[in-house]
Amino acid sequence: MQITVFGATGTFGARLVDQLRQRGHTVIAAHRGTGVDTYTGRGVAEAAEGSDVLVDCVNRMTMNGRQAVDYFSHSSRSIAVAAAEQPGTSVACLSIAFRPEVGESKLLGYYQGKAMQERIYRRIVPSDRLLMFRSAQWFELVDAMTMTVGPLRFVPKMRVQALAAAEAARMMAEAIDSGETGTIEVAGPEISDFAAIARRLAEARARSAGEKSPKVIGIPLPGPASRDGLIPPSPRLSDVTVDEWLRTR
Ligand SMILES: NC(=O)c1ccc[n+]([C@@H]2O[C@H](COP(=O)([O-])OP(=O)(O)OC[C@H]3O[C@@H](n4cnc5c(N)ncnc54)[C@H](OP(=O)(O)O)[C@@H]3O)[C@@H](O)[C@H]2O)c1
Repeated sequence: MQITVFGATGTFGARLVDQLRQRGHTVIAAHRGTGVDTYTGRGVAEAAEGSDVLVDCVNRMTMNGRQAVDYFSHSSRSIAVAAAEQPGTSVACLSIAFRPEVGESKLLGYYQGKAMQERIYRRIVPSDRLLMFRSAQWFELVDAMTMTVGPLRFVPKMRVQALAAAEAARMMAEAIDSGETGTIEVAGPEISDFAAIARRLAEARARSAGEKSPKVIGIPLPGPASRDGLIPPSPRLSDVTVDEWLRTR
């Protein structure tokens, strides 16, 4: 198949591109560096031309709900419209695991954007042409969500069933390869506190640098993220634990 991956240089996109190429697919790698801007729509139709599947893995990291909704609604619409203009083209959207109450949370505005993204694809792309791939949070998210103050590391205390981004990419590539549609959720082997993952990561890094581990402080998050709001109900599981992931990095 010919597959266009939007967001091809990202944490996830780069891993997915590798996985799809290893499976013998022709991949068009699209991102702003190649002149494709999903937010404005520039170059999207050209990048999509002739592809059997369009994959959305673009991202803008913000916890501001208004910005997240604005970004994901523009980006998703331009990819969905490009697919609609080519009969026979499918869409695979990379979303994140969250329950409906999280998608309405003011504190976690990013998830309002992801909820909007999912709504746009479900509205524009016929269900037999849409794969909604919802991954639980990745171990790699720790760095993006850590605030460093001197020797201290502050991270949100959230209950997650995290997995390695590479594992999520492998499972998404398998689903695309076999032409799956509908909603698929994936997660890691255990439910744990995000701050505990951050602690394991900080300790492993300190050990390999021969330094003292920084103190990692979990900041309690009121609302659904501290309960089961980010835990997918019945996901496909990766069996790679955070310790195994740390050993192979
Ligand atoms: N982090 C997690 O734990 C997690 C878990 C599950 C799902 N996800 C989802 O995974 C997706 C990808 O996240 P990520 O962490 O891999 O993102 P990332 O590392 O920030 O990469 C974003 C990618 O999108 C491209 N991009 C950004 N804005 C663009 C635009 N306007 N037009 C074209 N390309 C654009 C970037 O390239 P350029 O800057 O060159 O354009 C880059 O290739 C997100 O939708 C996120 O919700 C994340």
